[in-house]
Amino acid sequence: MKLFVDTGDVEEVRKAVDFGVLDGVTTNPTLIAKSGKGFKETVLKICELVPGGAISAEVVATDYDTMLKEALEIHSWHEQIVVKVPLIEPGIKLVKTLTDKGVRTNVTLVFSVPQALLAAKAGATFISNFVGRVDDLGADGMVAVADTVQMVETYGYDSEVLVASVRHPLHVSQAIEAGAHIATIPYKIFEMLFKHPLTDNGLKRFLEDWNKAGLSIFG
Ligand code: E4P
Repeated sequence: MKLFVDTGDVEEVRKAVDFGVLDGVTTNPTLIAKSGKGFKETVLKICELVPGGAISAEVVATDYDTMLKEALEIHSWHEQIVVKVPLIEPGIKLVKTLTDKGVRTNVTLVFSVPQALLAAKAGATFISNFVGRVDDLGADGMVAVADTVQMVETYGYDSEVLVASVRHPLHVSQAIEAGAHIATIPYKIFEMLFKHPLTDNGLKRFLEDWNKAGLSIFG
């Protein structure tokens, strides 16, 4: 399973890289706006910080011609960039065009299996299935993730299912259970994945016992 960090904050990316297990980064227009920095400079800095990682950067137009121009511009910035495209009619047509040109895509704002099917058929590299925003409405966002994983496997599509809108560590456990290929996780939640009180207590006891015995690894 791949782990991405979901942020437009370069410092958060730097810290997430330091964990040693990061496979990529997702941004969106809101996260880039929140960073207070320029789009291209932020995305290029992130590419530099995560060598070889998949870095998603999103188009903002909603008509096919302008979306295509934006997508080709974003794609030209760096080979690691995956063009993020919203699941609207011109978006799916765009994904098909980009797939034919060998450009990797991340179809975003996916909430249902029929939507995911359209993305898979157009050749999406990643299908970003949002869970937190569905949970907020009182439904279970992870149901569509599990069904999408099954759909992709049943029909043999190449797309990878990416769990987005992650709000807590339980979403990560559920993404694993659903067989999702990727989870993109806000930095704060990423930090929480390390935590368990029994780990802290256990380590404290090991070190107390070791030090009481006056032992040393170096003789
Ligand atoms: C996905 O790529 C999006 O950037 C993100 O996961 C959206 O999450 P939110 O619902 O917390 O805004």
